[in-house]
Amino acid sequence: MPTAINIGLLGCGTVGESVVRILTERSDLIQARTAGRRIQLQKVVLRDPSKPRRVALPKRGISTDPTQLLQDRRIKIVVELIGGIEPARTWIEAALRAGKDVITANKALLAERGPELVTLARDLGRVLMFEAAVGGGVPMIGTLRQSLAANQILGFSGVLNGTSHYMLHHMHDQGSSWQTALSEASRLGYAEANCEMDVNGSDAAQKLALLAQLAFRTQIDWKQIPRSGMESIDEVDVAWSKANGMRILPLAVARPMDRRDPVGSNLYLAVHPALLPQYDRLAGAEGPENVIAFHGDALGTLTLRGQGAGGMATASAVVCDLIDVVLGRARATQKCAPLWDESWPAWMPPAWTPPVPHYLRVFARHADLVRTVHTTCESFDVTVTRWEPIDAGKPGESRGIMATLSEANPHAVTQLQAQLRHRLGPDGTTLTLPIQQSELGIPAR
Ligand SMILES: NC(=O)c1ccc[n+]([C@@H]2O[C@H](COP(=O)([O-])OP(=O)(O)OC[C@H]3O[C@@H](n4cnc5c(N)ncnc54)[C@H](OP(=O)(O)O)[C@@H]3O)[C@@H](O)[C@H]2O)c1
Repeated sequence: MPTAINIGLLGCGTVGESVVRILTERSDLIQARTAGRRIQLQKVVLRDPSKPRRVALPKRGISTDPTQLLQDRRIKIVVELIGGIEPARTWIEAALRAGKDVITANKALLAERGPELVTLARDLGRVLMFEAAVGGGVPMIGTLRQSLAANQILGFSGVLNGTSHYMLHHMHDQGSSWQTALSEASRLGYAEANCEMDVNGSDAAQKLALLAQLAFRTQIDWKQIPRSGMESIDEVDVAWSKANGMRILPLAVARPMDRRDPVGSNLYLAVHPALLPQYDRLAGAEGPENVIAFHGDALGTLTLRGQGAGGMATASAVVCDLIDVVLGRARATQKCAPLWDESWPAWMPPAWTPPVPHYLRVFARHADLVRTVHTTCESFDVTVTRWEPIDAGKPGESRGIMATLSEANPHAVTQLQAQLRHRLGPDGTTLTLPIQQSELGIPAR
């Protein structure tokens, strides 16, 4: 009869409790999928053991001290679900050095210290798995690593942050303001007290870096990924997108501009809100969902869509990793398809970025606004292809304009925007959004 495999849990909050629930409520099903091996939770490390829990934990296995868990030789797998950089990093390292395999959902830690932890795991002959760190329950890493293994990845794009997607969705469907959408996201638990990294694009950039390095075998510093957030999006922008059959999505994009050399400075990576046709496959996602479209040279396009966060959805990915480790599949795959490798070349932001048409919105009570916008655009070789005034609510008055611009390099559009703000003075505010004809919308050279 196969022996049970003992595991330890670092942290038992939203995700940790759901992991325990899945292991308890679906124990027969999981045992059937681990070749008969039972997964036995031995020890749990918590910050406050007196807090009530929604699941039953091993009574004599609860502690605030990780040493007992990390030094317990019976424990073969450690699941880290405390989050943050420290003490998570120290404890993961100690677990690996103690000969244990590790599973984590900690994207923040991986974005900062991933290479050294994965290298350490490999050097010690252990595995470090992190499916839940990107896309919550949506199996993006496994799909890239396994299901698309026969494909050269031609690019991928998607929504990797559920909070900002929920907010834009709310603004689109309810016509609400950014502030109202944020309050609603907080009320429903989709936005944390400090959701700055969600709305400014940093969270999505960290996830994009994790996925892109796997897809293109390159090492990416997420801080170098150009990103813009959704803080400046106004109700008028959302109303314009609706009236023109489009949606604004918080998009993360990865695409090699030269298929023969997909790494180095040839890989276009960006996180920014963008306008997409309402019928686009990415535009169908709802509320806090995540969605991603992978483009493979053999398969074509594959879209995954589902719950990018939440206890049970994220725990679903954690337990899949657990099954893979118990079966030995994770170790076998790690040898031939590493999640990270220090020998991979470092990614550099490309000097050239593909031109796309843009939407421009300007708020300014300026006597000569239309002419100022036209002349500023012309000085950057950009044409205003269409424009309309923004109604100020009083006859004959406008409070700004909305326009579409001819194809231009995003870098040039940023400079154009700065010049425009300079000419309009302190009262002028501007927003530009790329208009993508399809989810990638970038011509390959
Ligand atoms: N929640 C999601 O939807 C989601 C989605 C994807 C990825 N993730 C990732 O999953 C991980 C866990 O997230 P979560 O939402 O479950 O977090 P959470 O609800 O805040 O739970 C954190 C757990 O860690 C424990 N803990 C924190 N600091 C500790 C310390 N210094 N010593 C001992 N225990 C400590 C807490 O103990 P107490 O309970 O005693 O306070 C709690 O049980 C994070 O890395 C997060 O980024 C979460």
